[in-house]
Amino acid sequence: MKIEFILNGQPVQVDVPGATRVVDLLREHFALTGPKEGCGSGECGACAVWIDGVTKLSCLMVAAQLQGREVTTTEGLGEDDSHQIQQSFARRGAVQCGYCTPGMVMSGAELLRQEKNPDRAMIRKKMSGHLCRCTGYHKVVDAVEDAALLMREGKK
Ligand code: FES
Ligand code: FES
Repeated sequence: MKIEFILNGQPVQVDVPGATRVVDLLREHFALTGPKEGCGSGECGACAVWIDGVTKLSCLMVAAQLQGREVTTTEGLGEDDSHQIQQSFARRGAVQCGYCTPGMVMSGAELLRQEKNPDRAMIRKKMSGHLCRCTGYHKVVDAVEDAALLMREGKK
């Protein structure tokens, strides 16, 4: 099945079985290893990407659903450099093994598009679909707060 969509700002075309999972398509066909497969069943959030700017779980979507859509992965999040939230995750030590990080970054960046000054409860709620075995989550919330502050100050 031929499928055309926008991937990280670039028009792309693929010819794959329509039932190919989007997480596999991105990782294996396009070598975008940001989206990770954790649970493979919609529980962990590691595979999150944006579809038309909305965070979705790429392990639960198939290639045929991408026709005409816009897909953004963590690799395409920054415009000409890394997005502020990616820098804040690194600066605040919100990354350990990093497996959950690209998915959390996509949800965090979506929140910051919608809300310039989220409180910690809002950040926790937004991150509630993401499981992390390493960070204990506090530093993740710190990182999103940090990014929000710096973006309000016009750093990015
Ligand atoms: S791999 Fe998609 S939600 Fe866990
Ligand atoms: S940093 Fe290891 S799972 Fe989150």
